[in-house]
Amino acid sequence: MKILVINGPNLNLLGEREPEIYGSTTLEDINQELIAFAKNLSNEIELEFFQSNHEGEIIDKIHSIKDYDGLIINPAAYTHTSIAISDAIKATKIKAAEVHLSNIFSREDYRKNSFIASSCIGSIAGFNKTSYKMALLGLYDYLKNE
Ligand code: DQA
Repeated sequence: MKILVINGPNLNLLGEREPEIYGSTTLEDINQELIAFAKNLSNEIELEFFQSNHEGEIIDKIHSIKDYDGLIINPAAYTHTSIAISDAIKATKIKAAEVHLSNIFSREDYRKNSFIASSCIGSIAGFNKTSYKMALLGLYDYLKNE
């Protein structure tokens, strides 16, 4: 089961970026923890990671997703602006889970809308780095029972 994990803009700065909101763990550490979690869950899960600060690169990566069974995506600020990323997920029909470290519903009003949610099976927000593990668990179970 191949799952692609995409992280959007500014998430390369995790660890130093607003730690009171996003925690002090780096993206590399989050990815390593997710690999360990996946191994525990099932040895059939294969993860690949992609981070970009550019909307078009994220869209191109989603277009190249044919080989994959699922997508975990934290679109970061593009969550609230990008109809194009949402359309790319819909166009490829990839089974996707949306992830946020912070609880986007308890923050500024402009963060409360997600253009991505309607293209995903489900969304997880607010559990910091654990959000990624919860999304993987949900997606894995969904794909297994499909
Ligand atoms: C985020 C929430 C977004 O509103 C914000 O722009 C981010 C990170 C999160 O993981 O909590 O960059 O997606």
